Amino acid sequence: MNIILKNIKQLIGITENSDTIKKGKAQGEVKTLENAYLIVRNNIIESFGPMSECPELSIDSHDCAGRLVLPMYVDSHTHLIFAESRSGEMKMRLHGKSYQEIAEAGGGILNSAAKLHAMSEQQLYEEAQERMGNVIKQGTGAIEIKSGYGLNIEDEMKMLRVIRVLKSLSPIPIKATFLGAHALPTAFKNNKDAYMYLVTKEMLPRIAGEGLADYIDIFCETGYFSLDDLKQVIEAGDKYGLKAKVHVNQFSSFGAVKMACEMGALSVDHLEIMNEDDYSALASSNTIATGLPLCSLFLDIPYTPGRQLIDKNIPLAIASDFNPGSSPSSNLNLAFGLACSQMKLTPEEAFNALTYNAAFAMEVQNEVGSIQVGKKANLIVTKPANGLEDIPYWFGDSMIGSVVV
Ligand code: NIG
Ligand code: FE
Repeated sequence: MNIILKNIKQLIGITENSDTIKKGKAQGEVKTLENAYLIVRNNIIESFGPMSECPELSIDSHDCAGRLVLPMYVDSHTHLIFAESRSGEMKMRLHGKSYQEIAEAGGGILNSAAKLHAMSEQQLYEEAQERMGNVIKQGTGAIEIKSGYGLNIEDEMKMLRVIRVLKSLSPIPIKATFLGAHALPTAFKNNKDAYMYLVTKEMLPRIAGEGLADYIDIFCETGYFSLDDLKQVIEAGDKYGLKAKVHVNQFSSFGAVKMACEMGALSVDHLEIMNEDDYSALASSNTIATGLPLCSLFLDIPYTPGRQLIDKNIPLAIASDFNPGSSPSSNLNLAFGLACSQMKLTPEEAFNALTYNAAFAMEVQNEVGSIQVGKKANLIVTKPANGLEDIPYWFGDSMIGSVVV
């Protein structure tokens, strides 16, 4: 696509390079140009500048008067491939059952795995494709997608093949994460070691052999997988060149952040429950903290302490955690609102968490995540707006007028 956007009220999120992640004070720095133009050529940002210097070109032109233009969001943590909703669990929760109790009563991840087992690869793909369309409409311009509802070799590979097809057909960058250690299948109830063997010694080699995954993940949590399992998974990933992006500290803190940081994980995600050791491990590592505020809203659990993380000079990304159990929403506009109202971020800090930093959390920072010459022109054009703060301000609504992908 070739197009020139003119009279942009504010062009937001400009960078000269994407060499370093934003943390501390820099997390709140957003470079903006007032009254700007931007030229897209062959789907790439070719140039931009003030309207006073706008060249005359004979390509399609779009008047953005009164509107903001920003890079699309980057969703660095989702479980977009699933077979069915688990809306029934919401009623159980409203009757006082916790996430863990629902899982013990036959709901949860194992329920999603049974439904996924019964669904054909083709249908799984068609439903995922429809969700992708919705995700893009809501402003997401790059996405990470996990397996983890297979829990046996065939079904894990089925999920990852669906992601591979999405990758080849989608206009936005996609990364795939192998999450075999998401929950312990009933057949392994009394033999976790055997399941860990299956994940690390049988599933992983085949998956890596076929190039089906970019990252490896584990749900390290009381009642799910332990510190020792976390270590095994990260080591196994290392062997096959897959960096770790891990679920830690959703309900409890017992050393997983420290271990993941020391072992070089790319990101640690959730972090609703944090202690001082967790903060210091993060502060002295290169691991990215990822908050998932839609999950906190839906499960009514604490929000990731975003304010504290930024104040401690730890780079923060924010993602949706889109999944049928704990976050049935892929709406990053709402996540933006919650990041400000609940996690106490400024609009600028939240914006960087949802775009530039999230791009680092799935290693697409050279392709997307900011307005930079040479990056993909995956752009949000807002409705008429005063400034960036209008997005979190209209928190239950979408300020997106249109998207350019
Ligand atoms: O990130 N916590 C673990 N995994 C998902 C939820 C999966 C599910 O409930 O289906 C999460 O919240
Ligand atoms: Fe998740």
